[in-house]
Amino acid sequence: MLLSLGNAALEASISPRLDLIEERLRDAVAQSDRLADATSRHLVDAGGKRLRPTLTLLTAQLGDGLRPEVLDAAVVVELTHLATLYHDDVMDCAPTRRGAPAAHEVWGNSVAILTGDLLFARASAVVAGLGPEAVRIQASTFERLCLGQLHETVGPAAGEDAVQHYLQVLADKTGSLIATSARFGAMFAGCDRTVVEQVTQYGELAGVAFQIADDVLDIRSDADVSGKTPGTDLREGVATMPMLLLRQRAASAQGTDEDEALLEAIGGDLTDDAVLADVVARLRLHPVLEETAALAAQWSNRAVAAVSAMPDGEVKEALVAFAEALVARAA
Ligand code: IPE
Ligand code: IPE
Ligand code: MG
Ligand code: MG
Repeated sequence: MLLSLGNAALEASISPRLDLIEERLRDAVAQSDRLADATSRHLVDAGGKRLRPTLTLLTAQLGDGLRPEVLDAAVVVELTHLATLYHDDVMDCAPTRRGAPAAHEVWGNSVAILTGDLLFARASAVVAGLGPEAVRIQASTFERLCLGQLHETVGPAAGEDAVQHYLQVLADKTGSLIATSARFGAMFAGCDRTVVEQVTQYGELAGVAFQIADDVLDIRSDADVSGKTPGTDLREGVATMPMLLLRQRAASAQGTDEDEALLEAIGGDLTDDAVLADVVARLRLHPVLEETAALAAQWSNRAVAAVSAMPDGEVKEALVAFAEALVARAA
């Protein structure tokens, strides 16, 4: 298991089910012709942390975790996630994903986009077997995901606070699916409504924490750790949290000449690898990176607070460990 739950026994009971999900994912990407199978298999084979299905299996432990619907739900959330990765890498012009070349680098944008659509269709086919309530939840999750990506693309409206706008983007593009991953686990394991609501809220907040931490990783981590190219967001002009905090700082009394110079460099042409590497190196040393990591920790604490009213137990402890592990990547 790639993300620690801090409990060996719990991990040992979840691991074999994660293996089953691997099999199911491989089945789900081997149903068409050779090209479609190869393109849709590409990112499944490349790996990934499988944190969404892990969360589904974990929250299912709050009820009857062995129900077959739980496995279906875990497959649905990872397939949905996979679909969004194909689309996201086209939009972000990301060269690598999960340590492999992004699909659009191998087959071109059209094939990558269609593969994302294909995977979403596969997710829909599985979720249909879970009934109309699950279909409705999946639909509204995907709607929020698209709106989050859309609002990130167009940026804040005139007069709108950029940080607040961005936090909503993160909740929509990432929190929504992580919330649904947690929700599905509890829901299909037969937990009562209060528990389902608590873990849903937990997932939403943990998702925001995770995505803020991802912004730190985009700057701090090397490609061999993250499987992604550092500075991808910067190069594409995506105003991530460190950037927004830098802008805020530059405009305040605290702002320094270096802040201004850095902002100017970020706003300039970053197509040259050496120029991008220089900007990334300067941002790595800048206090806004620590501030962003602290913000991720704050959201992770909020996620933990969302389950604090739950009776104590190993799953609750594991949810705490999971929320901490999500942001520890960026610490
Ligand atoms: C990447 O998600 C997209 C974000 C929401 C940050 P993950 O970091 O969970 O990606 P994989 O599944 O491990 O590749
Ligand atoms: C990805 O967001 C979110 C979704 C796929 C919906 P990012 O663009 O910030 O994530 P990475 O860094 O490419 O994984
Ligand atoms: Mg991206
Ligand atoms: Mg993106």
